Amino acid sequence: MLELKEIGLKFFSDEKENTVLDGISITFETGKIYALTGPNGSGKSSLARVIMGIHRPTAGQVIYKGADITALGIAERSRRGIGYAFQHPARFKGLRVADILEIARRRSDNHQCQPLQQIGLCPDEYLDRPLDSSLSGGESKRIEVATLLAQDPDLRIFDEPEAGIDLWSFEQLVEVISTTHRSDASTIVISHQEKILNMVDEIILLEDGAVTLHGSREEVWPLIDESTRCICRRDCPKGVTPYVDCPR
Ligand SMILES: Nc1ncnc2c1ncn2[C@@H]1O[C@H](COP(=O)(O)OP(=O)(O)O)[C@@H](O)[C@H]1O
Ligand SMILES: [Mg+2]
Repeated sequence: MLELKEIGLKFFSDEKENTVLDGISITFETGKIYALTGPNGSGKSSLARVIMGIHRPTAGQVIYKGADITALGIAERSRRGIGYAFQHPARFKGLRVADILEIARRRSDNHQCQPLQQIGLCPDEYLDRPLDSSLSGGESKRIEVATLLAQDPDLRIFDEPEAGIDLWSFEQLVEVISTTHRSDASTIVISHQEKILNMVDEIILLEDGAVTLHGSREEVWPLIDESTRCICRRDCPKGVTPYVDCPR
């Protein structure tokens, strides 16, 4: 489905160079769910943005469905079936929830109400709500997830979908990501949550802009636990708390 070849990404500001991604090579297979995890600032969202075409990589290639799409922009990638639910969703003054769902949906049989219901929001209550700051952080996050469900692209990227979502909705979120996954599509979930990491086929650990672990969930999860405990032992006064729950 997607192959990243030696992806590098640098940002330049005040003549300083900041390497955010370095030599990232990952193959994402059709039919699988992937978790992309790692400490804050390790480059997870930047990698998602490279896949979506928001950032142009400074090195490497993005191959999607056998074609080199490195030079293509967001609109063309979206047309070809790549979709991204932002970590920090944008608010669109003047648009309603119903409008964004209508813009997103790819198939005419995908009713506007369905993705809202799947994510636990009552369509009666939300379809006419404006997409502005009157929405709470959790509501806007759930609408972002619903928009990607409505789009139902061949490659879905959810960027920390659990952020700001209450416990009950979180259970529903994990369930809906798993049940809406298609065997002819791929899903990438950027997350720190054990429940999400436990439902995926493969886990990728990103640290300092490089892949430090990648393998099946069974293989990688025990190692992540171990390695993150080490990270915490260095920096966290709690000693053994894995960084995923660490307040740092
Ligand atoms: N547009 C940008 N300009 C400059 N630096 C950026 C930009 N976006 C992200 N970064 C930097 O890249 C690094 C990785 O950020 P990010 O990909 O958001 O990490 P993560 O999602 O893993 O928390 C951070 O040091 C961040 O400050
Ligand atoms: Mg991020």
